[in-house]
Amino acid sequence: MKLTSLPSKRETIRQNMIHVRDRTLELFNDCSREEFCQQAHPDFSPVGWHLGHIALTESLWILEHCAGEAPLFPEYRQLLTADGLRKEERQNLPDCSIIQDYLETVRNRVFKYLETAPIAQQERLWYWLLQHESQHNETIVFLLQLLRWGKLQESISLQLRDRLSPLSSFNTNISDAMVTISAGEFLMGNNNIEAQDNERPEHLIYLDTYQIDRFPVTCQQYREFIEVGGYQKAEFWSEMGWQWLQNNPIAQPLYWRDSPDWKEHPVCGVSYYEAEAYATFTGKRLPTEAEWEKAASWDAKIGEKLLYPWGNNTPNSKYCNYNTFIGHTTPVNLYLNGQSPWGCWDMMGNVWEWTSSLFSEYNGFEFYPYRGYSQVYFDNKHQVLRGGSWVTLPWSLRASFRNWYHPWVRQILVGFRCAV
Ligand code: AVJ
Ligand code: FE
Repeated sequence: MKLTSLPSKRETIRQNMIHVRDRTLELFNDCSREEFCQQAHPDFSPVGWHLGHIALTESLWILEHCAGEAPLFPEYRQLLTADGLRKEERQNLPDCSIIQDYLETVRNRVFKYLETAPIAQQERLWYWLLQHESQHNETIVFLLQLLRWGKLQESISLQLRDRLSPLSSFNTNISDAMVTISAGEFLMGNNNIEAQDNERPEHLIYLDTYQIDRFPVTCQQYREFIEVGGYQKAEFWSEMGWQWLQNNPIAQPLYWRDSPDWKEHPVCGVSYYEAEAYATFTGKRLPTEAEWEKAASWDAKIGEKLLYPWGNNTPNSKYCNYNTFIGHTTPVNLYLNGQSPWGCWDMMGNVWEWTSSLFSEYNGFEFYPYRGYSQVYFDNKHQVLRGGSWVTLPWSLRASFRNWYHPWVRQILVGFRCAV
């Protein structure tokens, strides 16, 4: 009966909001004032800005839009909104403790409002808000990783074998093996209440037969590209990619790990251009996002779309590396139970995967909750990434979820797999 299900939805939302917030706050437990205010990279805001922006967004959408309240701390509006100051102007931040008070003040009012809010009409917004904080949570994690990379590298490497050995069920050899995805229609996208505006509407797509890598590209495989002088040979690179490389002289992935312990891990911290160059080197290409999604979630035997590669069960640590349960990438052949119906491994979690598709709207797209969330990025300048990373929180982890970044961005937790 509908009436009895309403209070439980309210309570579920409350619990989830508390849960994400705990995950956000724990990231700042040992964050110095310097780390808090500093840009880890010019393309990104300081982690402290992201923390404040989470509060501003909650205040704006729940307190102002839904509850009709006047802005709380209007002086924060310009500093903490996404279209306010330029990123390099966001370093002059209040102390972490002051931002935390702001978060708490907003949150207390939000929970007061939630007690009597018309959830049935607002469900989508609350889910959007959970995913908004989840995504900023992931951004904070990789920005902190970027700031601390040298130190982290040492401490994690030391513990790596100990931490992974209890998990290890290395059942399958990693190889260049590809899976053949047979021609036919599949359901792309997602109409569920949790789905973002850019995942909608669900629609049928026909794809010809193609092949896709069983595993993401590993460090060991990527090493060959480095060793043949991949970063020095224009022949592997697109014109844009080569140009980018000349202006940004690099010779390895940003989060490159060059030791035997890491060779079965996915390569992480590559730009789209590097992924593209590696694919060309192997005589392959990157998959389109439709190819990626079909390989990840279409069960051709029953003609059904799955929420995750393994089916419709909610994610857990038997299926994939997500939610910072582990704290870094894992070998690509670790999650036997996480395979898709086609036998593709590691499609959820571990590292995001670049696709060859530009971020654009599905037919029938309607923005939600505001034009600037997705629509302004349908500018033919952003590539779609799929699958989530070892950090991605459960609220943003599903086969239809679309992430997007400029092709030169390599600070994110991203690798790739190839297709033919
Ligand atoms: C989809 C992760 C690229 O962080 O810029 C957060 C998500 N949008 N606040 C971003 C987002 C508005 C977005 N990404
Ligand atoms: Fe945001």
